[in-house]
Amino acid sequence: MNIFLSDRATPIPLKPGRHVLDALKEAGIFLNASCGGKGTCGKCKVKLLEGKPVIKGHGKLTEEQRAEGIVLACQVYPDADIKVEVPEGSRLAVGEKIAVSKTEGLMGMVKAAGGGLGPIVKEAHLQLSAPTIDDARSDLERLKMALADSGIEGTRFSRDFLAGMGKALRAANWDMSFRHAGGDAISIRQAASRPGFAIAVDIGTTTVVVYLINLADGKVLDVGSTYNSQIRFGDDVITRIVHATEGGGLEELAKTVRQDIKGITRALAGRHGVDRGEIELAVISGNTTMSHLFWGLDPGSIREEPYVPGVSIYPVLRGAEAGLFMNPEGAVYTFPSVASYVGGDIVSGVMASRMHTKPEIALFMDIGTNGEIAIGNNEWLITAACSAGPCFEGSGIIHGMRATEGAIESVKITGADFRVETGVIGTEGTAPRGICGSGMIDAISEMFLAGAVDMKGNLHELPDSKRIRRGENGMEFVIASTPAGDITLTEVDIENILRAKAAIYAGISTLVKEVGLTPDVIDRVYVAGGFGNYLNIERAIILGMLPDMQRDKFTFLGNTSITGAYMAAVSAKFQEEAAEVAARMTYVELSVSHGFMDEYMSSLFLPHTDVGLFPTVQKLIKK
Ligand code: FES
Repeated sequence: MNIFLSDRATPIPLKPGRHVLDALKEAGIFLNASCGGKGTCGKCKVKLLEGKPVIKGHGKLTEEQRAEGIVLACQVYPDADIKVEVPEGSRLAVGEKIAVSKTEGLMGMVKAAGGGLGPIVKEAHLQLSAPTIDDARSDLERLKMALADSGIEGTRFSRDFLAGMGKALRAANWDMSFRHAGGDAISIRQAASRPGFAIAVDIGTTTVVVYLINLADGKVLDVGSTYNSQIRFGDDVITRIVHATEGGGLEELAKTVRQDIKGITRALAGRHGVDRGEIELAVISGNTTMSHLFWGLDPGSIREEPYVPGVSIYPVLRGAEAGLFMNPEGAVYTFPSVASYVGGDIVSGVMASRMHTKPEIALFMDIGTNGEIAIGNNEWLITAACSAGPCFEGSGIIHGMRATEGAIESVKITGADFRVETGVIGTEGTAPRGICGSGMIDAISEMFLAGAVDMKGNLHELPDSKRIRRGENGMEFVIASTPAGDITLTEVDIENILRAKAAIYAGISTLVKEVGLTPDVIDRVYVAGGFGNYLNIERAIILGMLPDMQRDKFTFLGNTSITGAYMAAVSAKFQEEAAEVAARMTYVELSVSHGFMDEYMSSLFLPHTDVGLFPTVQKLIKK
């Protein structure tokens, strides 16, 4: 039994009982699958051209789409050959607009933070005497004595290191550069060898970013990024944990993300003439689930009460154990996490922001696939995860998509007839395909100021405007019309977005109250995360997602997870500092906090039930 594709000569084999989404995935054709194949997100659309398969459900497909032969790949179970067409919009887009953060001046930042070039990988120049008949000590004894003479004691040697040691000593003619990290031997090189290299890795739920760093001077040689291929098992951490635990896919998930990192590293190293064996250090920063999945550790307890992760402080492990494109003996450091939903990426981010070293009270927020916040200063740090969900990444929104080519990223609404101007990601004239997080925030705040949507998020049908209408999915606002159909935000979409923004605002507000303060004591707000790069602060305040504070208190930091990983790669001091930051952060579980639920309910409105908390928005509404 085969699936024939309209644009591919070779058919894709399909085993009985499997759905089309699975078969395409196995053939390396990845579709958007926000719900992980449950038939609820409506993103895995394909067009059925030939055949009569069993279709288990149609999810959110409209009558019109069904009449055109559109089906959900995860709901189609063929019992004979079929032919389908995969629309461009259903394919997982990879590449553009992935936040990699700035790489210039990073070494300056490290120095300003009190660090310097001092990676965990150290080098010792050793000159050994060659063995003779009269001096017949073993190679290892000879090496150990030379190390002791250099003041290096207690080094551990792995079997693999020992297996290659004899050859390496003779190739170096006993005059060598001995490389080691944290007490473990890494390699023996010729004395004049250049210093090694490191990779800093940010494993996001959505994206993977890798920096290739020259440990001779701390320079970032190159940067690579891709979508985290685990997306094909689901958009959020929960669906991936379910796949790992109930679907038996733990190894598959670990392998998938390692392949992503390997692929990028191999390409970066190839471009710069760096040998695999020269990459002697990897620093991994990711949320708690991503770190568990990377190491192939059971993440099951993360989603079960009392929400305790298997591991929070990771030992420094070896390149071979991580399965990365690097020296198998090299060191792999993983950022520690604070709790199940506040991971190493937040520890890394807080460290990169330096908020823990200053007396001013700062709020750090990472708005990505989820939403984590930390508040504090050099004396205290408190943190929480606000379960905002991935709707700003496009999940759960009918025309939602990530910030890639064709995404509406800005919206302006003017006039009584609600004229809409949109900004679309891509070259001029790129047709919109959907709307991304920043577009959603713009759209709803503009709709609110224009009177198209009320405080509760309800749309009201207007006789003289075609913008607001009743569609197949209820009331909707037409953002853009394209030959492929209208891009709309429905009332249900708006409700989902309001829930996400309410979770973020309530998280901030609850956390501030937890320490007996009010938002006005916050001196600085650091906004991090890929999403944070394109966020319009003004619009996010109108929406009621961010507190109404002086706009100059907000600072965008981009991807702080990778910045922190870079710092820990070039200077071991920051590995120690990360451990201190993680230990100092007090975690607040918002889901059991009554204060949070009350705040959340009040924040479900535009901008809030208490408009007095948003004075600048209040003025705009009155105008
Ligand atoms: Fe098919 Fe979500 S509807 S993956």
